[in-house]
Amino acid sequence: MLLMKLIPVVAVIILFPVSVAMAEGDPVRGKLLAETDCADCHGDDGLGDYDRPPIAGMNPKEHIKELMNYKTGKRKDENEDMDVADLSEQDMADVAAYYASLPPPPQKQ
Ligand code: HEC
Repeated sequence: MLLMKLIPVVAVIILFPVSVAMAEGDPVRGKLLAETDCADCHGDDGLGDYDRPPIAGMNPKEHIKELMNYKTGKRKDENEDMDVADLSEQDMADVAAYYASLPPPPQKQ
C-alpha cells in the first residue's frame, strides 16, 4: 500500500520544523525557568559566586551539553547541586538561550 509507505515520510515533514524550533531555545521562557531554578545559586546575573561557576554569556551548545552531562551522570558535582533531572531538552535549550543573552563575566587574566 502506497499510503502506508507515505506515513513515515509525512511524519518527518511535519515533525521537522518542531525539532528545529526546539534547537533554537526560547530566551523568554528560559528567563522564567532560570528565575525559579537557577538564580538562587548562579545569581540573577548568572555570574555565580565563590563556589558556583558563572554561566552568563555561555555558548548555548556548550551550556546544553554540560546540562546533559549532569543529567546523564557523565559529569558529577560533589554536592549534587546541579540537580537537573526535571529539565527537559526544551527547558535546557531555553535556559541556555537566556543565559547566552546575558553579559559574560570579565575575562580572567
Ligand atoms: C543548588 C545550587 C544550584 C542550582 C539551583 C543550579 N546550579 Fe548550576 N551549578 C552549581 C554548582 C555548585 C556548579 C559546579 C558543579 C561542579 O563542580 O561541576 C554548577 C555548574 C553549572 C554549570 C557548569 C558550568 C561550567 O563552567 O562548566 C552549568 C552550565 C550550570 N550549572 C547551569 C545551571 C542552570 C541552567 C541551572 C538552572 C536550571 C542551574 N545551574 C541550577 C549550583 C547550582
